[in-house]
Amino acid sequence: MIIDFTGKRALVTGAAHGIGRGIAEALAADGAQVIATDILAEKLTDLDASQGGRITAIAADLTVKSDITALVAAHGPFDILVHSAGGVRGQVGRPLEDISEADWHAIVGINMTASFLLAQAVAPGMKKAGSGRMVFISSGAGLGVSLTGIQAYAAAKAGEIGLTRQLAHELGPFGITVNSVAPGFVRSNPASEAQWQSYGEEGQKALLSRIAMRRLGQVSDIANAVLFLVSDKAPWINGQTLPVDGGK
Ligand SMILES: NC(=O)c1ccc[n+]([C@@H]2O[C@H](COP(=O)([O-])OP(=O)(O)OC[C@H]3O[C@@H](n4cnc5c(N)ncnc54)[C@H](O)[C@@H]3O)[C@@H](O)[C@H]2O)c1
Repeated sequence: MIIDFTGKRALVTGAAHGIGRGIAEALAADGAQVIATDILAEKLTDLDASQGGRITAIAADLTVKSDITALVAAHGPFDILVHSAGGVRGQVGRPLEDISEADWHAIVGINMTASFLLAQAVAPGMKKAGSGRMVFISSGAGLGVSLTGIQAYAAAKAGEIGLTRQLAHELGPFGITVNSVAPGFVRSNPASEAQWQSYGEEGQKALLSRIAMRRLGQVSDIANAVLFLVSDKAPWINGQTLPVDGGK
């Protein structure tokens, strides 16, 4: 199967590092013009030059609606949206009683609310074109109990999955598909690395033994699934959440 994104414009969030960066680079390598965004401006600088100039890096805070609308107004319309920005925002699992409203909103804001705001911003251009592809990077935490122990993370990721289903029905008649990829454990950010280290040798072995493929995920495992879903090879896959977790 040959996937070619020549002539397509993609918006990829969370592109400073980790999974979002891998997706931005993979889309550009296969021909897309990519607007790669993240709140970490200093970590975006080397992206501009990569993949033959097909990536343009723009810093934005995706919890701020005006940042999103400005980004889409200046660089849209887009054929593809991949929302990978998110994560746990430096938090760790704590008892319910210790969680402040600010802690809650920080995680829900960038994972779930940003999915809604980004979809809202790119949908008009996709409707006009009569086609479009959206993928939200959710998590196994939205399908079951989160290994992080973070209530807001589990809730936000489940929310992204619900939004995926709902938007698929709303936007399908306009030729737009909305899907989600739910990664398993990938050592792609400081939080997942710290979590991995905290398990110790025995805990790491136990975690691997629960994964059918007996290994953790890599950024390319996630990016490859996303590339298929946003390609013209997946026109009738809609409203789905694809676990990419090595098998449980
Ligand atoms: N790594 C894993 O094991 C794993 C597992 C399941 C799901 N996920 C999800 O995959 C996605 C990517 O994870 P990752 O491992 O690449 O993590 P990551 O921390 O490398 O990437 C998240 C990115 O989001 C950006 N971001 C955070 N707040 C932002 C804001 N307000 N505005 C703009 N950008 C902001 C961060 O700067 C960061 O670059 C996340 O949504 C995460 O929840 C990761």
